[in-house]
Parts: sequence; structure tokens; C-alpha cells
Amino acid sequence: MITTSTLWKLPPHTKGKHLVLKNYLNAWFPILGKYNGRILFIDGFAGPGEYRYGEKGSPLIALNTYMKHRARNRMSAEVYFIFIEKDKRRFNHLKSLIDPLIPELPNNCKVEIINGKFDGTMNEIMDLLDDQEKELAPSFVMVDPFGVSETPMEIIERIFRNKKSEVFISFQYDSINRFSKKEEFEPHLNELYGCTEWKNGTEIEDGKDRRTFYYNLYERKLREVGSKKNVIHFDLFKKNRLIYSIFFGTKHIRGSDRMKQAIWKVSPFGDFSFRGVHADQLTLVLENPDLGPLKEAIIQEFMGKGWITIEDIHEFVSSDATDYHSGQYKKVLRGLEKNDKIEIDESTRKIKLSYPNGTKIKIKQDH
Ligand SMILES: C[S@@+](CC[C@H](N)C(=O)[O-])C[C@H]1O[C@@H](n2cnc3c(N)ncnc32)[C@H](O)[C@@H]1O
Repeated sequence: MITTSTLWKLPPHTKGKHLVLKNYLNAWFPILGKYNGRILFIDGFAGPGEYRYGEKGSPLIALNTYMKHRARNRMSAEVYFIFIEKDKRRFNHLKSLIDPLIPELPNNCKVEIINGKFDGTMNEIMDLLDDQEKELAPSFVMVDPFGVSETPMEIIERIFRNKKSEVFISFQYDSINRFSKKEEFEPHLNELYGCTEWKNGTEIEDGKDRRTFYYNLYERKLREVGSKKNVIHFDLFKKNRLIYSIFFGTKHIRGSDRMKQAIWKVSPFGDFSFRGVHADQLTLVLENPDLGPLKEAIIQEFMGKGWITIEDIHEFVSSDATDYHSGQYKKVLRGLEKNDKIEIDESTRKIKLSYPNGTKIKIKQDH
């Protein structure tokens, strides 16, 4: 959806993105705010701050999540919010909403609103830091454009250079699909992917295969520029129609796990639900989720590896190798144990069907 008006009606699917953002930041602020001198929340495509009927936009959601956080007093870090918005009218509107809040902010919290473009502004910030031989503070960077333009892979790479920085990207596949056929959009896609390999996708006839190609390439590029980042990818569907996709890159298994928890927590909402990308068509549902693909993934990963620890399973499930999070695998292990598919070193636990830290597990061979 692309609009030229200053405020627009909140599309119902945007609610999912906002809930995920809020859930994740609820975990992110206290984790990073406790152990770092400074943390940054950067909204690279901030928007006007609210929608036509007063619903809050991402900058206000982020700021409120921090301000109302139960553990805010225990976060010693300086918390910087940087909101970047290209459109002057939307920038002014956002400013008119944020300015009255400034006197209420605690001393360790600063907000800067910039009327500029995401890529140019980020480059300026990072050039300045390079000149001072400083690193970008641990950052959560939100990239939420209309379409996919002006989101260069080069900038993502620069942001990722800081080990603790995370990037949350949302975009509509439609834009890639539409752009890829038009010559004038070639530079946009070269920028988006940081290469010209995307052009091979234009030859793919089947729509689903083409989408898989474009997405796999994007994920691969994010992994390359992120050097060992976990890259998570979920798609939001309205019934069987893909609406938008979320990509999230983080160096930390814990960040990847928290983001997956944040996504599982909101799905489904209304007619919408998120789907994972590892298990074919796995639809995320909070109540009675399908844990079959998780069971298969654990067996595949660990069968034939002898004794492993519960920590190995925890790390595997939390990482970007699965669509699941760490709150889900113990139920799978209980099922496997009851069906005699795993062996437990009983000296490593006291209670049957429990898997405390240090529990040793072996996947039996007969699956
Ligand atoms: C999808 S909206 C953002 C919505 C907002 N993140 C939210 O969730 O409430 C995209 C915004 O990015 C702005 N924009 C477009 N191109 C931009 C660019 N290159 N840099 C910064 N902002 C841009 C648009 O004016 C628009 O307000």
C-alpha cells in the first residue's frame, strides 16, 4: 500500500507488525538496557506517528513500551530513540506528537526526529562514528518502507557490523515481484539485494517458486552481510494470500528466540496469521500448535550424534534453524520419551519427564 496523504487508515494487517514490535521490545529493553551504557531504537521509516483514527504508529509504540515498562527503573542505559521520516508533512506530524512528551522523559532517554532519508541519514550517523573511531551502540533498527525501495543491503551491512545490532525488516513481496519486470526499477533491486543475482528470478515461471527464489536470495544476502547472524523470516497471510513478510537479523540466539516468541504470541489475529518458512505452510497458532515439524527437526538434527545435552536442543530450537521457540520443545521431548524414542541419562535429572539444565539425551535410531 502506497499513499501520499499525511495520515492514512490503519490497514488491519499492520496491527500484527505493531504487536510483534511491542512484544519484542518488552523483552529487548530490559535485556540490553541493563548491561549497556547506551542503546538505540532507530525507526528508519517512522511515518507520521499515528493513523487516521488515532491509532499509534511505530515510533509511539516503541516510546510507550519503554516509558511504561515495569522494569524501566532498573535499566541504567541511556536510551536513544531516532525517528527518520522523509516526508516533511509526516515528519511535522510526528514531531507535533512527540514534542509534548519530551518534558516527561527521564534524563537517560533522548528522542531525535530527523526529516531525511533512511539510507542517507544512517550513512551520516555511521560516517560520524567512523570518524570518531566509535561503534554504533547496540541498536534495534526498524525498516518498514512502503514497497521495498531505498532499503539498500549496503546499509544493513553497515548496521550489522555492530555485533549487538538487530534489524527488523518488513516488506511486501508484491513490490519485488512487480519491480523485477520493469527496467526502471533495476537500480532499486540492485540496491535491495546488494547484487544483480535477483535477475535470475525473472526467468522463473511459477509464481510460488519465484517467490521462494527472491526470498531465499534475500535471506542469504542478509546472512552474508550479517556474518553469522540468525536470520528469521515469517510471512503474514490473510487466509491464503501473502500480505507481507518479516525478516529479522540478530547475532544472538536469545534475540532470535525472543523474536519468534513475539511472533507466535500474536498469531492468529482477525483473518490474519503468520506462517513459518521451514516447515511447509506451518501456520502459527497459539493454542494447540502443530509441533510435528519441530519433532522432525530435532530428530533430524540430533539423530546419530550420540549423547547431547538439553542446552544443545535449546540452542538449536531458538536459532533461525527452526520456526519454533524455546518454550515449545520440552513438550516434544516428553512425547518422544513416552514413545520410547529417546534415551535419558537418569543421573542428569531427578524427576521423570523433566529436562533440567545439564540433562543428557540420546535420540534412538529407530524412527
Ligand atoms: C509504511 S510507512 C511507516 C509506518 C510506520 N513504521 C508505522 O508502523 O507506524 C513508511 C513511511 O516511510 C516514509 N518514507 C518513504 N521513503 C523513505 C525513506 N527513504 N526514508 C525515510 N522515510 C521514508 C514514508 O513517508 C512513510 O511515512
